[in-house]
Amino acid sequence: MRCSSAAEVADAIRTMVVRGAPAIGVTAAYGMALAALNEEDLAEAERVLAASRPTAVNLPWALAAMRDEPTPERARSLHEEEVQRCRRMAAHAAELFHPGTRALTHCNAGGLATGGYGSAVGALRAAAERGLLEHVLVDETRPLLQGARLTAWELEQDGIPHAVIADSAAGSLMARGEVDLVVTGADRIAANGDTANKIGTYSLAVLAAHHRIPFYVVAPSSTLDRATQDGSGIPIEERDPAELTERFPARNPAFDVTPAPLIAAIVTEGGVHRPPYEESLP
Ligand code: MRU
Repeated sequence: MRCSSAAEVADAIRTMVVRGAPAIGVTAAYGMALAALNEEDLAEAERVLAASRPTAVNLPWALAAMRDEPTPERARSLHEEEVQRCRRMAAHAAELFHPGTRALTHCNAGGLATGGYGSAVGALRAAAERGLLEHVLVDETRPLLQGARLTAWELEQDGIPHAVIADSAAGSLMARGEVDLVVTGADRIAANGDTANKIGTYSLAVLAAHHRIPFYVVAPSSTLDRATQDGSGIPIEERDPAELTERFPARNPAFDVTPAPLIAAIVTEGGVHRPPYEESLP
């Protein structure tokens, strides 16, 4: 898809042509560079881009990073730095895997969500490269199927053994002992470690706690929001109910918040952070 103005870039983010927290930030950065080249009103361009999706803090983070120098070069370096962060945190996260690990992931936190390599899927890649990963269960991720459409495709490209499951199958597969760890990305991590991610992540974390399975979050520092004390302050996007059904009334919250006590570790490019997150997060 070709975008020729900040408003078109904002539309691409809103309609999820580009999605995934770091990729949204990187795309918004290119949007600002485009607006500057077009000699658009930069304050208005920033406002339109900032309003495109509310939950991923990477979006305002990238817009702030572009304010002093809204050039293509700055956007490109922000993009490259984000991919480097993914590689570094994936290497740290791989330390949480042991030989023969069977992982479960939700949504898509791969190269398609980050501008390259991936956060949670990056961790799976790094673990596979080290010979530590046996298999990945991929939640299909209702309602838009990021798992079944994107994560499964990325794992297939890398030759990583995987199987797509209905979101509602996760609990029974955990009960049967088929899951050693759960790993997801994040859209915004509050100062206390409460983490917003794709709807269904919270349910997975509760299930993982019940089955005593570690639940890990892998995300770059651009996803940390120290200004928000806890999950109650994170804005949760409600999308068009028509994504679920046009026939009946529906609700469509796109994200949920996993409370920090359910998260065994948060991995950033700085390393593996353990509770209490107020102290351990960078
Ligand atoms: O609605 P989406 O597809 O943008 O939601 C994406 C997620 O929830 C991802 O898990 C998150 O952004 C992390 S991507 C590295």
